[in-house]
Amino acid sequence: MLDKTKRGWWKSAVFYQIYPKSFLDTNGDGVGDIPGIIARLDYLQTLGVDGVWLSPVYDSPQADNGYDIADYRAIWPVMGTMADMERLIAEAKKRGISIIMDLVLNHTSDQHAWFQRALQSRDDPFHDYYIWRDGSPDAPPNDMRSVFGGPMWTYVPHLGQYYFHQFAPQQPDLNWAEPAVRQALYDMIRFWVDKGVEGFRLDVIDSIAKDPDRKITGNGPRLHEFLRELSCQALREPGLVTVGEAWGADVERARQYSAPDGSELSMVFQFEHMCLDQQPGGEKWDAIPLSLPALKQCVRRWQLGLHGQGWNSLFLDNHDLPRIVSRWGDEGTYRVPSAKMLATMLHGLEGTPFIYQGEELGMTNIRLPIGAYRDLETLNLYAERVAGGYDPRDVMASIHARSRDNARTPMQWSAEKNAGFSPAEPWLPVNPNYTEINARAEMADPDSVFWYYRDLIALRKRYPVLRDGAFTLLEPDSEELFAYTRETEREQLLVVCNFTGGTVPYTPPAAFAGAETLICNYGGLAGNVLRPYEAAMLYRRTAP
Ligand code: GLC
Ligand code: CA
Repeated sequence: MLDKTKRGWWKSAVFYQIYPKSFLDTNGDGVGDIPGIIARLDYLQTLGVDGVWLSPVYDSPQADNGYDIADYRAIWPVMGTMADMERLIAEAKKRGISIIMDLVLNHTSDQHAWFQRALQSRDDPFHDYYIWRDGSPDAPPNDMRSVFGGPMWTYVPHLGQYYFHQFAPQQPDLNWAEPAVRQALYDMIRFWVDKGVEGFRLDVIDSIAKDPDRKITGNGPRLHEFLRELSCQALREPGLVTVGEAWGADVERARQYSAPDGSELSMVFQFEHMCLDQQPGGEKWDAIPLSLPALKQCVRRWQLGLHGQGWNSLFLDNHDLPRIVSRWGDEGTYRVPSAKMLATMLHGLEGTPFIYQGEELGMTNIRLPIGAYRDLETLNLYAERVAGGYDPRDVMASIHARSRDNARTPMQWSAEKNAGFSPAEPWLPVNPNYTEINARAEMADPDSVFWYYRDLIALRKRYPVLRDGAFTLLEPDSEELFAYTRETEREQLLVVCNFTGGTVPYTPPAAFAGAETLICNYGGLAGNVLRPYEAAMLYRRTAP
């Protein structure tokens, strides 16, 4: 087991993200809950993960599924009680699993007591916890557009002022320039550290230092100052892991966020690779085919840029992204090999892997009629684009490919009613393919995606080259293969992945002739071709 009191333990760890609403419902209300997570800790232990990133379970009106927090120190009653949460932390710890909570520090819910006070008058001490500008109903301070559509400003008539929100109007931005706000957040963080939480995922952390007068949201001028203060005031234990979600990070900024001295965060969670299959400068809804050479160049830049100078997280899926097997793999004939191939590509890299619930089963996207979606971003997009003259069929095609609800359908535990997720009608429909794709079936099948992930996780523990090895990209121009090596003074690893559904000629570099196969989704490479979506890791020790 990892020694989690030491800085850097997360470099050998693998995390698993839980989206609690969709994980497991134990009391029959159609919504996942904390007792449901406790009930599946043994499953996570079998998989072999070292920690869980728990999407928000705090008290919330759920405008954005908990990313709108009304009380940071209370649990949403539908999710369970504080006693359940304490039990989860303790039971997880017994199994070597750390609980990493989601910290939403950029904004609160409009139902948070601070905002309710802020609304009362301009003179209330809590007014300055948020960002206000004077104005009249028809003249917002500027034309900034919210991430979820509509203006970033909402008018409050009795104050004669607008408040600022980068996300929904129900998510007013906190004013980090106000020292009392920062202190209140640090106190709240200590509350959770004292409960035994072993780290935090920091939601949109690169947006906290906004400067709306200059139309700055990400990477504001005081960002690194705030992060250093947060780190030394609230997160001083060297073993606490902090994962900073940063859509705007480039390699250089990421080095600063994740500087090895621990002055800011443990690692960055950035999305450059996940934005490659959309029109440059466009929106995620406007997809273009992925260029494999572009993906490889991007991965290469991050691998080389952070080696020895920072730390990255590794992921292809989360609760905001469509399912990777539907996106860059093949959700049909080659669902199983392509899911394993994508995992091989990712888990061979330097960084800390994050597996999103259901990814280890190769769960796929869903196609729902618009009325069945729950995600406010998806619903706003539909309304906005249809009003703007788009063909509704095109809008639905974008939604089917890119909606966040693709990843939020309930976990598929078994072939029983509602996929074994809940005896009641789930809050979001279950993917109809649950009769075939489910945890019970996969655990009974030694060749399943599930057991392949278990093996990948175990390899990371066994071979230091997976943590430390220097990365070299092979075949940079190939449109079909993603191949690279990792190397230390003692070990060499070759990772080779066929990104296509066809057969591709391939012979490993001579140095790997006779090397050991650590893992392969076809049981072992066959001579000089790679079969559809074939992937393998070859290994040799070069010194004792
Ligand atoms: C992050 C979360 C996303 C949420 C947004 C606003 O990007 O991952 O789910 O909607 O922040 O909190
Ligand atoms: Ca429930």
